[in-house]
Amino acid sequence: MKRIRPGLLTVLVIVCMFIAVSSVSWAQQGQLKLSGITVKDEHPNGCVDCHKVAGGNDYRLSTELKAAGHPDITKVVNSAPDGCLMCHKTGAKAGALNQRVHKVHFQNPTQNAFVTNYNGDCLNCHKLDLATGSMTIKSGAKNW
Ligand code: HEC
Ligand code: HEC
Ligand code: HEC
Repeated sequence: MKRIRPGLLTVLVIVCMFIAVSSVSWAQQGQLKLSGITVKDEHPNGCVDCHKVAGGNDYRLSTELKAAGHPDITKVVNSAPDGCLMCHKTGAKAGALNQRVHKVHFQNPTQNAFVTNYNGDCLNCHKLDLATGSMTIKSGAKNW
């Protein structure tokens, strides 16, 4: 059986120590951005905190969905995302809300602005209560 030479073992130990130390400092540098956990939650009301009029652009859900040929939600939906469930229940013809919403935010990840600009963080829409461990969905009143 071939024995590992002491010199090689030393090199391996040094490499492992380097990986351990660099991963600790990576976390400490705060590069792991988890909204409401390691960094401030910039979108406590979920959908409507991003989907609003900003920088001269109208990103409101009422406007964006209309532009995509979606049925008009202006009068029927009063809060997001709960109001969307009226049509988007699991098994409904319109498609389950979780699937519809997850898909638009994560598809084509190299170009999707949600992934590239917002870290693709689940906690933009979901909220984790560290005291109880429960995960809930954020909600906000309509802005249209
Ligand atoms: C942190 C910001 C952020 C939050 C919170 C957010 N979105 Fe988005 N959303 C985006 C971005 C950025 C895109 C554009 C993705 C792309 O490049 O196509 C998007 C795209 C969409 C689209 C597709 C629009 C279109 O033009 O077809 C819908 C629908 C949508 N979001 C609904 C929602 C709903 C519902 C919620 C809440 C459950 C939500 N979003 C929460 C940032 C956000
Ligand atoms: C009045 C019923 C109704 C309401 C309310 C509704 N939807 Fe829809 N939605 C539909 C139907 C019907 C389709 C399927 C359209 C198709 O397949 O061509 C759809 C498709 C979608 C799609 C996929 C196609 C697309 O346009 O990108 C997304 C995403 C979506 N809805 C998001 C939402 C969100 C977010 C809300 C709440 C703000 C919402 N919907 C509220 C009926 C509704
Ligand atoms: C843009 C907003 C948004 C983001 C980002 C997002 N979710 Fe969701 N998620 C939703 C919505 C809306 C629902 C449906 C809520 C409802 O039905 O009441 C949902 C539902 C879920 C559910 C419940 C599914 C079920 O069958 O009941 C799970 C699990 C989940 N999300 C996991 C994730 C994970 C993991 C990530 C990150 C990789 C993520 N979500 C990112 C909006 C989002």
